[in-house]
Amino acid sequence: VKIERPRGTRDFLPDEMERRRAIEAVMRRIAESYGYREIATPTFEHLELFTIKSGEGIIEEMYAFKDKGGRDLALRPELTAPVVRLFVNECSVMPKPLRFYYFANCFRYERPQKGRYREFWQFGVELIGSSSYLADAEVITLAYRIMEELKLDFELHIGHVGLLRHLLRDVEEEKAAIVMRLIDKKDVEGLIKHLEEIKAPQDLSEAILSLIELSGGRDVLKDASELTGFDIGHMEKLCDVLDSMGVEYTIDLGIARGLDYYTGVVFEAYAEGLGAQNQICGGGSYRLAHLFGGEDVPSTGFALGFDRIVEICKLTPEEKTVVVVANVGLENEAFKLADLLRRHGICAITDVMERSLKRQLSFANDVNARFAVIIGKKEIESGRYTVKDMASGESLQLEFDSLLEYLSSNIKYKKS
Ligand code: HAM
Repeated sequence: VKIERPRGTRDFLPDEMERRRAIEAVMRRIAESYGYREIATPTFEHLELFTIKSGEGIIEEMYAFKDKGGRDLALRPELTAPVVRLFVNECSVMPKPLRFYYFANCFRYERPQKGRYREFWQFGVELIGSSSYLADAEVITLAYRIMEELKLDFELHIGHVGLLRHLLRDVEEEKAAIVMRLIDKKDVEGLIKHLEEIKAPQDLSEAILSLIELSGGRDVLKDASELTGFDIGHMEKLCDVLDSMGVEYTIDLGIARGLDYYTGVVFEAYAEGLGAQNQICGGGSYRLAHLFGGEDVPSTGFALGFDRIVEICKLTPEEKTVVVVANVGLENEAFKLADLLRRHGICAITDVMERSLKRQLSFANDVNARFAVIIGKKEIESGRYTVKDMASGESLQLEFDSLLEYLSSNIKYKKS
């Protein structure tokens, strides 16, 4: 019986992993340049952590299970709730603001399709402790700089759920949550039906339907303010900073986000080349800490859909150069030389199949080795190694020091 991997999961081969790591490295570098530091949380958490406020959509898609002790657990569908839990448990007395980033796998029981998996990776940040427009400006700029550096073709949309929540202030929480979810899904028909079902007053329904259509330059903010009576000063100040930073965006008051914890500014980025699953980034400001037993601390953050970005990012990792150390009956010598080369940062491969020299060299071709160093009796006696340039076929005889210099100067290698 051949065992297949579970639906919605993927295997990654070395070429793909190198590409993924190169993209991840850009994200880490930029987040760290803003002073964010990495944290890690468990792969599974108490189910409750996600049912408190993440919303119906997330709950339906959860990988939830009971462990042998009868505890209700879930594989994390996202990391914002875990990070806030960590903050409440471990860091609530640390000086604020706290700047955290994470790169981790998440699990959602969704219908798999291009760009939508049951196990996927998020790179995200959470800036904990500020409700200022400056905090929003920082995380939005950070997300923007990452997507820009990766040369993605994307569009950034920024909204504010406060306007919708303000309109919905007299609607029961559960009913309002459904309104938000339908808006998030862009299901206008369903939304109209739901508003009728909950007997929303005519002017409220009209205001909601007009508000979610408002999208464009920052001047739509005035229309939004007139429509809702909501103070858009925070958004205006945010736009001033973003404009001065050269961050391009569309104001979009139809962004409701699929998670229930957002309270203020929200944003999403969409990219070309992904089909229906084109959202590569989602984030915004939220309040969760008080629900997990902490103080009511405002936070803001985002998560990039790593797999979707990998799919469209053209970045190619630097190719690693490989040296094969081949031998004729001198396996120990080959091991020792390879060991020395590795200590000098060179990637060296030796034979572990007890093959003939000819087959070792043919394998060197198979793995695209740039050079083969050959060790035979003659080489040991003379103290000079034979180096073969696998591309040109030319050979040289060199002593160890010159060999090292020759290889190093011809090789791109990474010392981590
Ligand atoms: P989210 O929008 O649910 O937000 O997820 C963030 C990103 O993860 C999405 O924009 C998308 O690119 C990617 N993503 C989501 N589901 C899948 C999937 N099934 N397969 C592949 N990629 C997927 C959050 O999770 C929030 N925690 C973001 C946040 C951080 N808000 C504040 N801080």
